[in-house]
Amino acid sequence: MRSPLRFVETLRSHGDVVRIRLGPQPVHWVNNPDLVRQVLASGSFTRGAQGDKLRIVIGSGLVTIDGDLHRRHRRLMQPAFHRARIAGYVETMRELTTEMTQRWRDGERIEADREFAELTLRVVGKTLFSTHLAGDLVDEVVRSIPLMLRGVGRRIRDPIGLRGKLPTPANREFDSAIRRLRKVVDRIIAEYRAGGDDHGDVASMLLLAHDEETGEGLSNQEISDEVLTLLTAGTETTANILAWAMHHLAERPEVEARLHAEVEAVLGDRAVTAEDLASLRYLHAIVMEALRLYPQAWILTRRALAPVRLGDIELPTGASIYFSPYALQRDPAIYPNPDRFDPDRWADDRSTLTQRPSFVPFGGGRRQCIGDVFAMTELTVALATIAQNWRLERVSGPPVRIDSSSTLKPSHLPMTPRHKPRG
Ligand code: HEM
Repeated sequence: MRSPLRFVETLRSHGDVVRIRLGPQPVHWVNNPDLVRQVLASGSFTRGAQGDKLRIVIGSGLVTIDGDLHRRHRRLMQPAFHRARIAGYVETMRELTTEMTQRWRDGERIEADREFAELTLRVVGKTLFSTHLAGDLVDEVVRSIPLMLRGVGRRIRDPIGLRGKLPTPANREFDSAIRRLRKVVDRIIAEYRAGGDDHGDVASMLLLAHDEETGEGLSNQEISDEVLTLLTAGTETTANILAWAMHHLAERPEVEARLHAEVEAVLGDRAVTAEDLASLRYLHAIVMEALRLYPQAWILTRRALAPVRLGDIELPTGASIYFSPYALQRDPAIYPNPDRFDPDRWADDRSTLTQRPSFVPFGGGRRQCIGDVFAMTELTVALATIAQNWRLERVSGPPVRIDSSSTLKPSHLPMTPRHKPRG
């Protein structure tokens, strides 16, 4: 409880699958990357403990539903995340990043983590829900999502389930964060229903969707759950990766200089487009390294629907399975000097996001993050657009630590923007 990141790393030395107790529950912890891939690829598991806890908050959205319902909703939402569609989001991602940097003043401190949380929220709002989320809604969501995620994190680490029921200030804060988020989401849906137009975005897709067999559409509750799921899964995660990348760039001037040289060579003064993304190879390596060091879902869970064999271990129906992308991605046997931020690890790597067994920042198999390409595109566009005109310097003060209470956030991230002289 006190040192969870260290704890998950210690499990590695105990074998491929380790049985531990979390409260009264036996949990089978998988440490071997090939077995993790086997679990992710198999259709014989449900989302498990995390799904149960998240369902309390986001209801029945893609992250928490299983089986046929999951297949149906995934099929429905997939078109909004196709590569071609995402290429069409690049301009919006760039414009919103530029809008953010236009508010910066040379030498005037910003809270970079907060800036990026707001940016990713606006990007999801504008690209997936066509709306420019009004200022008050953005404030509400930026404030409520971390409170909500922290509450879910606490509940996942509390297998007995007692702490979540006590009338503590943290629990009251959690409950009211959820209420506020639901209100925002219901307002977005009401606006769409009132407008009645097809905006060609996820929200319209959900509203207009009909089951091929029954002809039934999704209920308001189902739509509300999916919208909340996307706001939850697609904003803080991406914002944190951007924040960590900026943190390491500020700590490592030689990495920053190489990034700036690449951006200058590929883009010069020109605005980044979808066609440039593949040419920004060093920038891509920086993003991969941030994803390796800070996998936002740093524990993932599953539950066996039938008896299953993992390596030489037989697990019964209902077995609870856990694994940690954080521990896998910091294994010194695979990533020498694993705690060092070193984009050059990826220099000659042409593998795709799903080819390295020990690299699972977006999960894998049929539940692989639906927003993986969206997030990679957003991170590339945001980093390139910032690096064209700005450097972010660190501000002296207490060291930046990893806050693992839900995702992997920087504990704080004050930075000073410096405008880059042209040429
Ligand atoms: C750097 C950013 C991101 C990271 C690290 C990340 C990570 C993940 C991971 C690890 C999973 C798999 C969970 C599991 O297997 O149990 C997942 C699922 C999911 N993610 Fe992401 N994600 C990111 C960005 C996004 C974005 C931008 C969106 C949408 C706008 C999104 C929406 C989802 C959804 C809906 C699921 C559930 C997919 C399913 O079960 O079918 N994520 N994400």
